[in-house]
This record gives sequence, structure tokens and C-alpha cells, in this order.
Amino acid sequence: MSGVSVTKAAEDAVPAANDLVVLSNVNKHFGALHVLQDIDLTIARGEVVVVIGPSGSGKSTLCRTINRLETIDSGAISIDGKPLPQEGKELARLRADVGMVFQSFNLFAHKTVLENVMLGQLKVRKTDKQGATEKARSLLDRVGVASQADKYPSQLSGGQQQRVAIARALAMDPKVMLFDEPTSALDPEMINEVLEVMQQLARDGMTMVVVTHEMGFARSAANRVVFMADGKIVEEAAPDQFFSNPRSDRAKDFLSKILHH
Ligand SMILES: Nc1ncnc2c1ncn2[C@@H]1O[C@H](COP(=O)(O)OP(=O)(O)OP(=O)(O)O)[C@@H](O)[C@H]1O
Ligand SMILES: [Mg+2]
Repeated sequence: MSGVSVTKAAEDAVPAANDLVVLSNVNKHFGALHVLQDIDLTIARGEVVVVIGPSGSGKSTLCRTINRLETIDSGAISIDGKPLPQEGKELARLRADVGMVFQSFNLFAHKTVLENVMLGQLKVRKTDKQGATEKARSLLDRVGVASQADKYPSQLSGGQQQRVAIARALAMDPKVMLFDEPTSALDPEMINEVLEVMQQLARDGMTMVVVTHEMGFARSAANRVVFMADGKIVEEAAPDQFFSNPRSDRAKDFLSKILHH
């Protein structure tokens, strides 16, 4: 599998120019809870990293620090060689560079599907209206919901709404896309249509960090699986290696639970 060689390369000496997201010795507390503990994680350009681990292990918090929805207490995070900006316009630009797709789709309820995908282009990227419309329509087509453009989010199925949320993030030409359990609020028959869009993105070379327990996706699309527990990265490996031969007891225990229920 091609992913294995990419992972190997990532673990060996990757030239710095190829590093897109770098977390170095990142720590974060929520009060007494040490939610991220000495996190070192480097994501190469074009790499797809799946993050899995038990509930409360810090997966969402990790994602949220990467686009600074959460601040960190110590350590450093950089994207494309630049440290995360603290505030203001720079921060807005960073948020646009880092697309985020959540479990709950977070679309604007009072705007149409098309308007949802246009908004960030107009406000943050300062695209003109015609350009934003054309791009929005083309992205809606790419995620398979072109015919829903003039509806409101509540008139769409969950799977369709999530695909619109992906199109909205893509409209900003992000450097990296973060997905936090994008399919876990969906009815089973809608999970695949969202995963297929994500698979295609991965094949197109998008750099992606995906929190998911969808093993099929991890096996077919990920270059690397990162296993978190209790705020730490416990184990990292190529998907085949991780699922067939986890090294840590914590990962073995976790996999036995999710694979057998
Ligand atoms: N804003 C917050 N304030 C205080 N504690 C928080 C906050 N956000 C998260 N936590 C706590 O931090 C820990 C990690 O939460 P996080 O949401 O990152 O876990 P997770 O791995 O994404 O879990 P899940 O699989 O359930 O989504 C949990 O114990 C959670 O209760
Ligand atoms: Mg979470």
C-alpha cells in the first residue's frame, strides 16, 4: 500500500519543507485536567492522519488547538512554517487555511446551502460575488449536492448537510482539513456518502486530520493512525500495522472493545 511508504517517510527524516502542521511539546489543561500532555505530532503535506482513542482522551481538543479554537498552555504549533497567530485578521486567515468539519454540521440555518458555501469566500477571502457563486456551485457539485443549492439546511438529510459543511470548508482553499467525528451523528445509510467524499479528497492530495472510529476509512485512506489515551499520543503506526498488531496494551484494549461490539 502506498500509504505505508509515506508513513515511513514521515517517521524518518522528512525535509522540513514537507511539514505542514507541526505540534511540538504541546500541553493544555482544563483546570486540574491535563488534557494534552507533551504532544509531538508532525503532519506532512498531503498526509491523511486518523486519530482514534477512547472518549475523553483529548482528540477533539487536539483538533481545536490546531485552528486555535482552544489556546495551549505551553509548546508550539505551526502551520506551513508559521506559528499560529494570536488574534485579529491573521487568526481569521488561519481559520480559513484550516478547514474544520464537526460532528454537528454547524451550517447557518437562515442561509441557503449556496449562501453557506459563499459566505466565507465573500467575508474572509474577499472573493467577488460571481466568483464566489461559481466556486460554491462547483464545490456543491463535487460533493454531490448541486441540486440542493437553493434549499435551507433543515430541508436536507444529515449526510447532505455534512457534505455541504465539507464544501463550505473547501471553499476557503484550506491547506489542511480537520474532521472531528464527521459521521458519528449520521444515520448508517448516510455515513458512506460522507466517507466517499472524504476518500476522494484524500485521493486528491488534501492534507487531512480525521478523528473517526470508521476503521474502513482509516484502512483505505489513512497514511497513519495516531492512537490517543489520557491526553497522550500512545502509539502511531500505518493503519494495517496498527489494526492487526497494536503494540500498547491500551490500544489492544481499545480495539478489542470497538471491534467486538
Ligand atoms: N471546555 C472544556 N472545559 C473543561 N473540560 C473540557 C472542555 N473541553 C473538553 N474538556 C474535557 O477534556 C477531556 C478531553 O475532551 P475531548 O473532547 O478532547 O475528548 P475526545 O477524545 O474528543 O472525546 P470524545 O471521543 O468523547 O469526543 C474530557 O475529559 C473533557 O471533559
Ligand atoms: Mg471528541
